[in-house]
Amino acid sequence: MRKKIVAGNWKMNKNLQEGVALAKELNGLLVADKPNCEVVICTPFIHLATVAGLINNEVLQLGAENCADKASGAYTGEVSAEMVKSTGAQYVILGHSERREYYNETPEILKEKVDLALANGLKILFCIGESLEQREANQQNEVCKAELEGSVFHLTPEQWANVVIAYEPIWAIGTGKTATSDQAEEIHAFIRSCVAEKYGQEVADNTSILYGGSCKGSNAPELFAKPNIDGGLIGGASLKASDFKEIIDAF
Ligand code: PGA
Repeated sequence: MRKKIVAGNWKMNKNLQEGVALAKELNGLLVADKPNCEVVICTPFIHLATVAGLINNEVLQLGAENCADKASGAYTGEVSAEMVKSTGAQYVILGHSERREYYNETPEILKEKVDLALANGLKILFCIGESLEQREANQQNEVCKAELEGSVFHLTPEQWANVVIAYEPIWAIGTGKTATSDQAEEIHAFIRSCVAEKYGQEVADNTSILYGGSCKGSNAPELFAKPNIDGGLIGGASLKASDFKEIIDAF
């Protein structure tokens, strides 16, 4: 059966020393009190190699927040999937709405990144989700389906086994406005039906679909209790070990 996962997305927060301290503190909490789900922290690139060396992979996994859409070469400032993998990280977030919006990441670019990440043995946390305008026009289902079709539905079922979906309504990210658990459950069930249509029911039943967007200790239990919500992708509340642990403890 599919995995329950709580993943943190630090975004552009924490310098190296602060990030190392946070990772150490969280790792200590999880070693002392084993989680009932997989826990991942996705950090800025500069933290990866150091953090990889100090966490216990039995309780905590590591991921990047992005990788390049090219394998290697003259792409000043970019970090490849192979480089991410070589740090010891297991995951990479791709398709986050902030990357799509502020860095013009198109479905085609994301498809390249997805292929390179998988070719280099990384697992993918692939983000999808509608804007407020699209939600108000009741277009959330078609937006999510199109984002899947645009960047990940070309994968084989074997490759798909390394993909986790994160549904993140853009209007709920960093706004304090969470989707209600019923709203989230409804669209998670729809997303699972799209996966079933493409890969079959068994693959869909084995796919973890996380909710993201102002998820915190106070609302995580209700969200995670829904049958199609398999965990969360957590921004703000992943920046303090005790806040993040409270979400993990929802499982
Ligand atoms: P948030 O961010 O938890 O701060 O809303 C979630 C995300 O963007 O992954």
